[in-house]
Amino acid sequence: MSPQQKALFLAKKQGDFEVGSRSIPSPGHGQLLVKIQSTALNPVDYKIKDTGMVVTHYPAVLGADIAGIVEELGEGVENFRKGDRVLAHGHRTNDFAAFQQYALTIASFTAKIPPSESFDSAATVPLGLDTAMAGLYGKQFGAGITPPWTKNVCESKQPIVILGGSSSVGSYVIQFARLSGFYPIITTASPSNEDLVMDYGATHFFDRNLSGKRLIAAISKVTDSAIRIVYDAVSLPETQSVGWELLAKNGILVLTLPPSVKEDEGKGRKAFQTFGNPHISKNTELFRSSWAMVEKWLSEGTIQVCSATTVLDLSHIYVAEQA
Ligand SMILES: NC(=O)c1ccc[n+]([C@@H]2O[C@H](COP(=O)([O-])OP(=O)(O)OC[C@H]3O[C@@H](n4cnc5c(N)ncnc54)[C@H](OP(=O)(O)O)[C@@H]3O)[C@@H](O)[C@H]2O)c1
Repeated sequence: MSPQQKALFLAKKQGDFEVGSRSIPSPGHGQLLVKIQSTALNPVDYKIKDTGMVVTHYPAVLGADIAGIVEELGEGVENFRKGDRVLAHGHRTNDFAAFQQYALTIASFTAKIPPSESFDSAATVPLGLDTAMAGLYGKQFGAGITPPWTKNVCESKQPIVILGGSSSVGSYVIQFARLSGFYPIITTASPSNEDLVMDYGATHFFDRNLSGKRLIAAISKVTDSAIRIVYDAVSLPETQSVGWELLAKNGILVLTLPPSVKEDEGKGRKAFQTFGNPHISKNTELFRSSWAMVEKWLSEGTIQVCSATTVLDLSHIYVAEQA
């Protein structure tokens, strides 16, 4: 029998999670086998369990965020060695998912973890960062802004509004907005997270508990420039309405969930859901270039990890197995 590992299975559509065992996969060309040390819990995980969305094959292993140690290299992988500490964006097929002891990763969407980061902190990065990335810089699923690490471009004096700046996705949107040179960077969060979002790079903070009407009035006073991009990381109907009202003619409302606003005639505004998944062909080019930057961004502190994300530490499993 091939070597086995423990995995957390979602047994059936809208069923329960249960621990079972499955084979440890072997890495193919351009892939790595990673011994997972830490993974993040994301809203999509409970949504899949509760609603049965997205997943078509059961039993399913979920989990998008992988942080661990390289166990084996597939053919053609040159930039990594056995024993490297890495983070990677998982995939929705069982061999590539995070809620298990060993997963395959695609080398182009894997990066080394710098010594300054732990497995837990690195596990908070992939899905949040990639969703911010797709929504701002994606040509298919985003505002199509030129990534600042590919060309020396600056969106100077362009305002941006980020609803939900303390969320996992929102925290990375603020940081990329700063890298891209947006100003002002206006965000909403709970008052307890004001310092956090300002530290990420927001220039103006508003309490997310204000009524929609008061938020729109307050944000509108910050800038005389037309607001052409709103990134709504929360994307509930009430936040979408705020973002939609704030948008100038021809503006773009980037959403993490499906639009509830109606695209209008005349003003040319657009609202669409982004897709922070590097594994689909329409995103591949952007994510190859961004994943090549992740180690540098983290080691130089250009991008800070999101402190709000919940992580699962798997390392105790290995300790228990050795005992
Ligand atoms: N389309 C995609 O590819 C994609 C990818 C990833 C996530 N998503 C979706 O994006 C959403 C965000 O995911 P996430 O992982 O970033 O969530 P998260 O980290 O769990 O965000 C939770 C935070 O959102 C903030 N928040 C909630 N309601 C708010 C409001 N009305 N205004 C402002 N902030 C509010 C709260 O911040 P405070 O504590 O400051 O109140 C809360 O702590 C989820 O619905 C998720 O399913 C979509």
